[in-house]
This record gives sequence, C-alpha cells and structure tokens, in this order.
Amino acid sequence: MRSHYCGEITSKNLNEEITICGWIHKRRDHGGVIFLDVRDIKGICQAVINPDNAESFAIAESLRNEYVVQITGLVKARLEGTINKNMTTGEVELESKDIKILSKAETPVFPLDDYQEVNEDVRLKNRVLDLRRPEMNHRIVTRSKITSMIRNYLDDNDFNEIETPILTRATPEGARDYILPSRVQSGNFFALPQSPQLFKQLLMMGGLDKYYQIARCFRDEDLRADRQPEFTQIDIEASFIDQDYIMQTGEGMVKGLIEEFCNDKLKDFEVLDWHDAMRDYGCDKPDLRIPLKLVEISDMVKDEEFKVFAEPAKDKNSRVVALKIPGGNSLSRGQIDDYTSFVSKLGAKGLAYIKVNDKSDIENGLQSPILKFLKSETVASLVKDLDLENDDLLFFGAGKQNVVNLSMSSLIKKIGEDLSLYTEKWAPCWVVNFPMFEKNSDGNLTSLHHPFTLPNCSIDELTNAPEEAIAYAYDIVLNGYEIGGGSLRVFDAEMQSAIFNILQISKEEANSKFGFLIKALSSGCPPHGGIAFGLDRLVMLITDTNNIRDVIAFPKTQSATCLLTDAPSKVDQKQLDELKIISTHKEE
Ligand code: AMO
Ligand code: AMP
Repeated sequence: MRSHYCGEITSKNLNEEITICGWIHKRRDHGGVIFLDVRDIKGICQAVINPDNAESFAIAESLRNEYVVQITGLVKARLEGTINKNMTTGEVELESKDIKILSKAETPVFPLDDYQEVNEDVRLKNRVLDLRRPEMNHRIVTRSKITSMIRNYLDDNDFNEIETPILTRATPEGARDYILPSRVQSGNFFALPQSPQLFKQLLMMGGLDKYYQIARCFRDEDLRADRQPEFTQIDIEASFIDQDYIMQTGEGMVKGLIEEFCNDKLKDFEVLDWHDAMRDYGCDKPDLRIPLKLVEISDMVKDEEFKVFAEPAKDKNSRVVALKIPGGNSLSRGQIDDYTSFVSKLGAKGLAYIKVNDKSDIENGLQSPILKFLKSETVASLVKDLDLENDDLLFFGAGKQNVVNLSMSSLIKKIGEDLSLYTEKWAPCWVVNFPMFEKNSDGNLTSLHHPFTLPNCSIDELTNAPEEAIAYAYDIVLNGYEIGGGSLRVFDAEMQSAIFNILQISKEEANSKFGFLIKALSSGCPPHGGIAFGLDRLVMLITDTNNIRDVIAFPKTQSATCLLTDAPSKVDQKQLDELKIISTHKEE
C-alpha cells in the first residue's frame, strides 16, 4: 500500500513519486492550499494539496484528525522560510496527486496533535488512541528492540529459549496465586505461574544445560507503581555454573542494553553485602545515585535519658540511626513537617532533627527540639563522629528495625528526588549474601528468596541455626529499583527436605506440592542456578519513565483491572455450571 514511511522522507527522495499511508495528525487550510501532517510509526511528513487538483482538494477538505489516508504524490523541496530543521522530514513536502480515505475517525477523546497531560484512566480506557502518541509508540517499539537484543545476547551465549506451561501448579514466590478452574477435572484448579521457577530447574535436570524465556508471570499481590499482576521476566537458568557466572552474564546483558539504548557506558557494578546494605541504606535496593547513608548511633545514645532513643538503642530488634543532609539547614519548618508526616505514614513515631548553624558552639549553634533531652557530650560526639558542617541537617530514626529501615530508606529516596541530589545517571549494584530466611509477623520463618535457594552451609549448620544461614542469592538493583533476582539452587533431595522442614512444610505437603521436583532431584541433578529480570522495570528505566504501565501495551490498573476490556468480568451461569462453581459473592 505504501512505498515509503512518512517519517523517513528526506531530500534524498526529491522529485520521486511516492505513496504514504497514515493518520491525519493535523490539517491546516491556508487560503486555498491545504497542508496535512500525516503520521505513521516512523514520524510525520507534510503533504500539500493545491485547489487545481479539484478531486483531491475536495477529499482533503473533508479530512478530520485521525482519519486514515493513503496519499500519492511528488516529493518537493519546501520553500525557503517554511523549512523545519527540527523534523527529519522538515526540508521536504509531498505534493499530492491522489488522496484516498482508508478509514474515517470520530473526534478523538483527547487530542493527539498537541501534547496534553491526560488522566491515566482516560488513557487506559482509550488505549488505542494513547498508543498512537509518539512517546508511547516509541516505548513499545523500544521494548521490542530490547527483547530482540536480549534474545541475541543469550543465544550467543548458548542459552536455549524454551517455553514452560501457563496452566500449571502453584509456584511459591511469595504472592497469592491466580487460580483457574478445570472443567475436565472438575473441582480441581490450575494456578497461573508466579514464575517458571520449578520448570526451569526441571529443564536443567533434563539436561538442557542453559535456558531462557521471555516469560509471563502472574502474581495476585498489592500493586505499586513498579508492579503489575501480570508482568514479564527474562528468565534464565544454567547448569554447572557458579554465582559469578550468573552475575557476569546478567551484568553483561544490562551493560549492553544501556549502551545500545541510552548511549551510556556503565562502570562495573558495585557488589554490596545484604547486611551492609540494610545497615547503610535501610533497604536491599538502595538508590546509589543519592549520596546519603544512615549512621548507626545506638551506642552513642543508649545511656541517654531521652527514652525515644535510649529504649530502641538497647533493644536488639531495634535501632537508632542518623541521616546527615549536607546543606539541609535550608529546609523550612514546613518541609520538615512534611517529611515527618511522610515517615509517620510508614510507621515511624517521629522524625527528630538537628540543624547546624554553628558547629563550634554546641550550646547555641544548634537548633532542635531534642537538644534539651540529650547530654551535651553526646551532641558533641554526634557533631564530631558524623563530621557535621555548618548548614547541615541531621534527621533521626529510632524504633523497631523494620520500621526504621522502611521509613528512613524511603526518606533517603524522597529527599534525593526532592533536592535533586543525584550524582550520576546510572547507579547499578548487586546485593549478595542474603539470609536464607526471615521471620514473618507470626514468628515463623519464610524464605527470603524462595525455598529452592542453596544455602552457603551444611544441612546440620542450616538446621541448627537457620536464622544465621546465608544464601547463594543475589539481586540486581538499578537506580533504586530491583530489576532482577536469582540464586543458586538446592541440587540434592536431602537439603531440599531440610529446607521444607524449617519452613514447616510437612513431608506429605512437600510430596503433594513438589513431589515431582523431589523425585527429579534424586535422578541425577546438575548443580545449577539462575536469575530473572523484570523486563517491564528494565524497559521503564531505559525509556525514562517511572510508571511501569507506560511500557506495557495493555496494562492493568492499581486495582488489577483492565479499563479497556473491562476485565475481570462476570461469566455466564452456564459456564459456572459447567465448572461446578457456585459464587458466594453478594453485590453491594
Ligand atoms: P523474583 O520474585 O525476585 O524472582 O522476580 C524477579 C524479578 O521480576 C520482577 N518482578 C516484577 N515486575 C513487575 N511486577 C511484579 N509484580 C513483579 N514481581 C517481580 C522484579 C524481580 O526482580 N524465580 C525467581 C527468579 C530466580 O530465582 O531465578 C523470581 O521470580 O524485577
Ligand atoms: P516527643 O517527645 O514524642 O515529642 O518527640 C520529640 C522529638 O523526637 C520530635 O521531634 C519527634 O518527631 C521525634 N521523635 C519521636 N519519636 C521518634 C522516633 N521513633 N524516631 C525519631 N524521632 C522521633
């Protein structure tokens, strides 16, 4: 239908007769001459229709924005003064001979010819229009180029692309399952995979050596800006390898992508021990572009009369930290109040602070609501140990470890953004040496990664002190986002049973849920390990947005619905009857 893309016509095509197809982006009538901006995936070009071409002119007069047209004409140089240097096609225009309307369009719900902020719900409901916007078009095309480059990279490294089932059993990754009733096996359910974890391990046991898949995963969990219920992983597994192999392969892939799509060369990734990351940043996905760190001051304040600090300082499950904001003295009372309410929403009981006006004058040179509660020697050591300078500000977090860590790590990211403290464009790192287990709210142990992760100790050591055990697990973090995570895997049945035991998964339950895995582990299992990258998050960072929905063609809302198709939806009673399902749901 077309000989050229709109966005690719340049003065190289001068005097050629060409045909383009696309959408009417804009129409302008200029005293007898009509100018059309015609848009396709590659860009926009200008077509001109003169009134002496009566038939085309009549059609051009009837055109409205977003009509789809086919235009044949001659490529001509634009007149001096009408050249647009900002456009690839800005030096030429198409002198139209023939215009055909391929499809008419109703007036668009939001204009595409001028950029306008549009409410996201309206965008998602009208996703077809939204996808036509050049920035969305660009993101989705970039996503395709990214997956293509990833495939080439992994193919070149001897990985085999293998599909795994979508209709399957539950795979534990810590979220709720989406379950699907079976009609044929009435009363039984499939689960959609939270990840291909078990299948990729089975593939290693099946001798396939190296596997990857651009895999769709489903997790029924609370959604956030960087989470979707249905998302895509670049899922990787390899046999007879060590942790370094997986880390180098993953790092090479990310470096290649950033170089290709952002034109930036990443330095070698920093490697952080999990315990150090929690101590210094309060989280395992620090944004290392922000030069702020927490300083543990429990020892310094444990003998103070100020109970807000002294009590957590003496409790082993709590901590007291200080966060120095260089130059933060200029923050107003209102800003400090806003940060206080920000951390209190995350569970913190307050946000004590000290402003440094004159560090040489401990009595009068500091400004803070808590000075009266602290011994002046303690304040003096804070000034000294934290290297405080005039105009600095210190924030304090005191309380249970999980609350201090969550609130203060979030505060670092918020202040970093608010005050534009970023020191570089990209700050990737690995976080390694995760604990095998963590205690959940009811006091039971759960896997920090997943139950198939290999511990860095013997079965006896693991069983005797599970909370101390370190895992061969690693996360990859870019600009504060966890873009991937993986581990080496348990490759013998006895160790796997020991882990199920610690997680209080009985033999019967283990056999009924993972019998196929345990059996395969006993059939000759290569040492193996892998990683999965969050493709959506990677594309989000590469295309410079902070909304994961911008890089998914048809995403779900924060409440896990599709506004375009109105899914999920009711089904016919007949379908429910066939599935032998009775709903107890009551309409509100
Ligand atoms: P994990 O659960 O860490 O590991 O997931 C791997 C990566 O997938 C991305 N991700 C998500 N992206 C968008 N929306 C979500 N709801 C979501 N959940 C996770 C993150 C994360 O780092 N089977 C293991 C991997 C392995 O051990 O090899 C797994 O799934 O970027
Ligand atoms: P209060 O004695 O509760 O009025 O607190 C005195 C100061 O300490 C106020 O600035 C509070 O914001 C701050 N504060 C109270 N609890 C905490 C906490 N758990 N962590 C950090 N600062 C706190």
